[in-house]
Amino acid sequence: MKKRLISANWKMHKTIGETEEFLRIFLKSVSLKDDREVLICPPFTSLQTASQILKNSEVRLGAQNCHWEKKGAFTGEISPVMLKDLGCDYVIIGHSERRHIFGEEDEVINRKLISALEEGLRPILCVGEKIEDREAGMTEKVVETQLRLGLSRLEDHIDSIDIAYEPVWAIGTGVPATPEDAVNVHRFINEVLDRLNPSRKRETRVLYGGSVKPENAGEFMKREEIEGLLVGGASLDPESFAKIVESF
Ligand code: 13P
Repeated sequence: MKKRLISANWKMHKTIGETEEFLRIFLKSVSLKDDREVLICPPFTSLQTASQILKNSEVRLGAQNCHWEKKGAFTGEISPVMLKDLGCDYVIIGHSERRHIFGEEDEVINRKLISALEEGLRPILCVGEKIEDREAGMTEKVVETQLRLGLSRLEDHIDSIDIAYEPVWAIGTGVPATPEDAVNVHRFINEVLDRLNPSRKRETRVLYGGSVKPENAGEFMKREEIEGLLVGGASLDPESFAKIVESF
């Protein structure tokens, strides 16, 4: 039985002091069960501190992005080697904010995935359609293209990657997808992954992200197709994130 993955993406929030305070309260208030994995992805500047605090806990650490090279003249970038060195197990790749604010394209995302896997990080590949795609009935086409291009040459490694379905129109808007809509896209994602590698072991978890809150997390997690959550705003408060972790 796969462990479900409940993850916090803090985006560009929290200083080192705020990270320490969050983790102190969160570790005290959350009760962790064996059937789920909990992941925190703070900004790069908090990774070292978080790594030290989390090292004797079951909570895992991840980064929100990485470069595709191991080292070199890439001012301002962080490599997967550095993330591994900091104690990260996971890295989020291709988040919609990376795609749409920073212009990251599928080819770059693919290179980052390859590099993260080579360093032994477990990537969470984010996919999701914009509102205009959804209104034009293009959701499946957009998600399929992101999966095919992102996972190009990685067909044999699909089991080492998790996918987060985050419809762009649901991120930070307070308007989540309905569990039914999410389930339909999650099923479709699994169909595409099956086509890319019919002999995969189905170890990939398909997470939902977009306006997840303590009040709606349980509704998503009731559905077996939703194998985890990627939470932005509601993961910034330790009690709210603990409630999401305990919502099922
Ligand atoms: P919100 O939970 O703030 O909508 O953000 C979702 C997200 O982008 C997680 O990666």
